[in-house]
This record gives sequence, C-alpha cells and structure tokens, in this order.
Amino acid sequence: MANPVASKIIGTGHYVPPTVVTNDDLAKRFDTSDEWIQQRTGIKERRYSKPEDTTAHMGALAARAAVEDAGLELTDIDCILLGTLSPDVTFPGSSVFVQRELGLHGIACMDIRNQCSAYLYMVATADAYVRAGLFKNVLIIGSEVHSTGIDFSDEGRDVTVLFGDGAAAAVISASDDPKVGVLQSCLHADGAGAELLWIQNPGSREFPHRAPESMYEDKSVYPGMDGRAVFKWATRKLPEVIREALDKSGYELDDIDVLVPHQANMRINQMVAKQLGFPQEKVVHNIQKYGNTTAASVGIALDEARKDGRIKEGSLVCLAAFGSGFTWGASILRF
Ligand code: ACO
Repeated sequence: MANPVASKIIGTGHYVPPTVVTNDDLAKRFDTSDEWIQQRTGIKERRYSKPEDTTAHMGALAARAAVEDAGLELTDIDCILLGTLSPDVTFPGSSVFVQRELGLHGIACMDIRNQCSAYLYMVATADAYVRAGLFKNVLIIGSEVHSTGIDFSDEGRDVTVLFGDGAAAAVISASDDPKVGVLQSCLHADGAGAELLWIQNPGSREFPHRAPESMYEDKSVYPGMDGRAVFKWATRKLPEVIREALDKSGYELDDIDVLVPHQANMRINQMVAKQLGFPQEKVVHNIQKYGNTTAASVGIALDEARKDGRIKEGSLVCLAAFGSGFTWGASILRF
C-alpha cells in the first residue's frame, strides 16, 4: 500500500495546573512588580503545579484530551513524542512515563530536547513519520514543570517571572488529502547561542561529579539567560523563518488566517507581527494567563484558538517558535 500523502492535526488538548500565581504573588517573594512584568512581557499570571502534577502526568492529561478531541481511542495511538526541558527524571525520557500512565505498553516513545521550539520539531517529526508510513496516529506532547527549578531570589527574577507550568498535546494522523494538514515545516538551530539561554547543572561535563555541591550557591542549577540577546535573536529569526515557510509552501502572508507563536514575551510577538506587516488581531496571545510554558506554549495556544473558534475547518495557520539552543522553526498547516 502507498504511504499517506499527508498528515493532519485531528485533535488537540491541554492541561494547566489549577494554582494561579499572580505577579503580585511573586513580588512578595523577591524584588519585582506587576507593572515591570506586564510592561516588559505582557504576563499577568502563570500556573504552578502541585507535587502530583509532574511533567509526565500533566502530559498524560493533555494527551487524553487530545485523543478524545480527535474522536479516537487511546489504543489507536502508535507513537508518542514528548518535548520537555523539565523531565520527571534524568533518564529515561518522560514519554515512557506518559505511555505507562496511558496504558499503551509497547508503542514507540521518544523525547525531543528542543525547549521552546520542541512543538515545531515534533510537528515536523510526526509529519515525516506518518508520511513515511511508519506510524498512523502520532501523539505529540509538550509539558513543563518550571516552578520547581527557578530561582526565587532577586538574582533570578529576570527569568523566574517569565515561566509557568502546563502541558499541551495533539494527534497527528495520516490523511489522503494533500491540500490539508502539515503543508510545510522549516527547522533551524545555531549552537553559537547555547550558553545564552540554558541550565548548566547538573551535567555530565562537570568533572569529577555531575552534580557539583556548588550548583545552588553559584546558581548554575537555575536557568541562565541573556534576555537582551534572546530578544534580538528571536525578533530577527522569527520573521525570517515565517517568510521562509511561506515561500516554500507557495502561500502569501495575507493567506494566513491565524499566527500561533511561542509565548515567550508578548513584546517579541508584537514586534514580529509588526516587522512582517501581519495584523496583530490575527496573532494568538495567551502569555497573560500562563507565562512561558516552553515546549507546551504553542500547543496550549493552538488548542485554545481551535476551541474558541478562531481556528476553524479550512483555516490556514502558521506556527512559529524560537528558543534555547538556539533553535527555531515555523510550520504552515491547513485545518
Ligand atoms: N522585576 C524588576 N526588575 C527587573 C526584573 C524583574 N523581574 N528583571 C530584571 N529587572 C531589572 C534589571 O535588573 C535591570 O535593572 P538595572 O537597570 O538597575 O540594571 C532592569 O530591570 C532592566 O533589565 P533588562 O534585563 O535590561 O530588561 P529588559 O528590558 O531586557 O527585559 C526581559 C528583560 C523581559 C527578560 C527581556 O530581555 C526579554 O523578554 N528577553 C527575551 C526573553 C525570552 O524570550 N526568553 C526565552 C524564553 S525561555 C526559553 O526559550 C527556554
């Protein structure tokens, strides 16, 4: 039998933990303010998980929602891809814990280590797997618990105010209609920026012990970020990769109904839309409610935009993300 000609997102779902943490809540723990955070980032609040809301458990909840939305049974899924920078344990990857919780013993599982652009890398990987005839229904999941790994002192405030916890999932399935689904994916990376946005420790290159006792004192266990450099890279690379995806797919900017960008900073996304000349009202923002949920952020925004009717059957949608690595990408999808 011939391989499928296309792959399509047929279901989406998300889960965010119930605990809401406002900017004022953070201002009680270190030197910051609601005004500073909103002005610089657009964020008003984010969610923090309880102990039971691990990366894998939240991923499994989002996955169940996506499979139900797709109108499938869990047993229809034949591959799980999971993007996270906050795995439950160092190894194995968190995808196997999701698989175990879903009771899907035996199906393929793979973790994708691409931080904020993991969702784009997962869409492209699932699309390639499906069109190669390897799998029929791939579950992609982005899930993050940031709240247990950030620095709640004045020193860490630049990063800590940005992050929130949450998970998103989608089912990507074989389709025989080449005019729908994942029409184009463009993926890039540049390790020149690896140390500009990272968590250094624990890490196997530390010698002689990968978890040095000094890592809490020297803060190398917390995310480190050159915010200005990240801002500059993101506002340069995102318009570039969106134009590339449009060129390669043969569509014009005007054809795009909805742009779903990674939610790192509302100012970045507003600047990207402005540079492209793309209408701000067609850009999905939910960073106000959730902050930056890294691998989950594009998926949560996509699910909300589908469920509230901004993305309909037939909509042409552009997904785009930039993040640690640096890694970045864009996809063009017809729903
Ligand atoms: N509250 C109050 N003041 C703060 C805070 C805070 N949370 N954080 C920093 N400041 C202070 C700084 O100490 C500095 O004070 P100073 O002038 O006395 O030295 C001042 O605010 C300005 O600091 P900058 O770092 O220059 O602030 P900037 O305007 O660049 O905004 C921000 C910082 C919001 C982090 C911005 O650089 C940014 O959004 N960068 C991109 C972030 C991003 O996209 N990250 C990627 C996500 S993570 C991922 O991909 C895994």
